[in-house]
Amino acid sequence: MTIDTPFAIEAANLTVSYNARPALLDVSVRIEKDQLVGVIGPNGAGKSTFIKAVLGFVKPDLGKVRIQGTNAKNAKGQVAYVPQRGAVDWDFPITVSEVALMGRYQQIPWYASPGKQDREAAMEALNMVRMADFAHRQIGELSGGQQQRVFMARALAQGSDILLLDEPFAGVDAATERAILEVLERAKRSGKTLVVVHHDLSTAAEYFDKLLLIKQRLYAYGAPDAVLREDLLSQVYEGRLRIFKDVVEREVN
Ligand SMILES: Nc1ncnc2c1ncn2[C@@H]1O[C@H](COP(=O)(O)OP(=O)(O)O)[C@@H](O)[C@H]1O
Ligand SMILES: [Mg+2]
Repeated sequence: MTIDTPFAIEAANLTVSYNARPALLDVSVRIEKDQLVGVIGPNGAGKSTFIKAVLGFVKPDLGKVRIQGTNAKNAKGQVAYVPQRGAVDWDFPITVSEVALMGRYQQIPWYASPGKQDREAAMEALNMVRMADFAHRQIGELSGGQQQRVFMARALAQGSDILLLDEPFAGVDAATERAILEVLERAKRSGKTLVVVHHDLSTAAEYFDKLLLIKQRLYAYGAPDAVLREDLLSQVYEGRLRIFKDVVEREVN
């Protein structure tokens, strides 16, 4: 059941720990529907943990998540996930169309195999990411950016209203980054809410409608102008940034 609410995701007092060490502490945020949202913060800030908590992959010590107004436990199928590329075994022998079809498995009853409708949804998703021509190729043969787009197709084929992506731009070239951004924008125009972990502050304002700045705690959520403020960034990045006249040039590691 979906309750009529303007919010795609609501986290309330979310606290998540690994081995009794909090990775997220008391995070409360409400993410509106039909937005392209960037999640920013330094390495180890809890960005991936936030995504995993929304998905229900990690259990919070405290707090809760609501998806489109309902308790996240009942929201299965409303959220699709594109993991970080490093988390995937790319040598696994599977074709591009099979990966996209995996997005349909939640909808297919245990006694059935994928039907025509499922194959069509998978192909439509491959079209959306401009990878339909590669349908019969092995996933391991593709470039990093192509693999990323196929995994986006898998998430799109699921038909969920909300997509969570963990660093989709990591390790791709500039042209691929453009292509991935276009897919994100196309998905938004088709009515999706997208929450994207992003580590490059120099493009964050251009790419996203809203930014969510975390380092264990939530530091800010809102329009890029309101989040990319020197006072906030210097607290969160602690001198690892060079900031020139409100413009974040790059992260200095
Ligand atoms: N499975 C895990 N077991 C133990 N500690 C973890 C695990 N996953 C993440 N952490 C720790 O939690 C913190 C947040 O990690 P993560 O959410 O991956 O940050 P980010 O994605 O912002 O780099 C880090 O200190 C990290 O070492
Ligand atoms: Mg991460």
